[in-house]
Amino acid sequence: MKDLIKETAKYLVSARHVVALTGAGISVESGIPPFRGEGGLWEKYDPMEFAHINSFMNNPEKVWKIFMGDMKKVLLAATPNDGHLGLARLEALGILKTVITQNVDGLHQLAGNTDVIEFHGNFAWLRCLKCDQRFKTVDIDLSEAPPKCPCGGIFRPECVFFGEMIPPTALTRSQEESSQCDVMLVVGTSALVQPAAYMPVIAHQSGATIVEINPDPTPLTRQISKIFLQGKAGEMMNEILSEVSRLIESKKH
Ligand code: OAD
Repeated sequence: MKDLIKETAKYLVSARHVVALTGAGISVESGIPPFRGEGGLWEKYDPMEFAHINSFMNNPEKVWKIFMGDMKKVLLAATPNDGHLGLARLEALGILKTVITQNVDGLHQLAGNTDVIEFHGNFAWLRCLKCDQRFKTVDIDLSEAPPKCPCGGIFRPECVFFGEMIPPTALTRSQEESSQCDVMLVVGTSALVQPAAYMPVIAHQSGATIVEINPDPTPLTRQISKIFLQGKAGEMMNEILSEVSRLIESKKH
């Protein structure tokens, strides 16, 4: 493992354009459950019943009451962990340019990353289905299910539901970043949901080195990923950061 961390740090320090693609796994150490695997949300909820746009439109009360009720409690209470903070530190060092995230928790921005592409939208904003006005989620009383706009319309979160398009700008920018980067860090994603899972493939086809951080292998592992750092995002990022700092220091002397 030590050698793989050293190799990763070397790639990062000599890279021209580093991009990260993150998934639910990076927020697990912040107390947010992932979707798949042990303790995952899809073990408890059927995604087609709670996360498909048709289910939401047919019965927003049920989706807000049961699924979003649980989501909002964890999302609004969560704070960045060492995984997010490590990516923010890589940006501050001038190494990481952009984070493409599938997460809707806003933790990358809270950690300090300034260019975050929210591939699946975010939970920080609500939009009225009737008058189309946007409100900050924290400013809305969520005890009512579904929460309602002053105009009487029902709010939806600005998250992407199954059956919906990826926000076009997020998709276009992600494709551009993926084809331009020379190193991509893929952190905490099962790489099972398209088109997000295709971003590392675009990067790989464009000649980038893919470094994957995950406790479990994914379809990318050893196919698309050159380096597989098997472990938790926070722990791995801390090790990478200390090696990167050591390399930067040694270059100064
Ligand atoms: P998943 O829940 O599918 O996968 C989470 C990944 O994180 C798994 O590969 C885990 O092994 C890994 N993991 C768990 N703990 C970790 C830790 N401490 N550090 C690093 N990795 C860890 O989440 P996503 O890949 O993000 O879409 O799922 C993609 C999309 O599927 C989500 O954005 C969501 C979901 O349905 C929509 O809602 C549209």
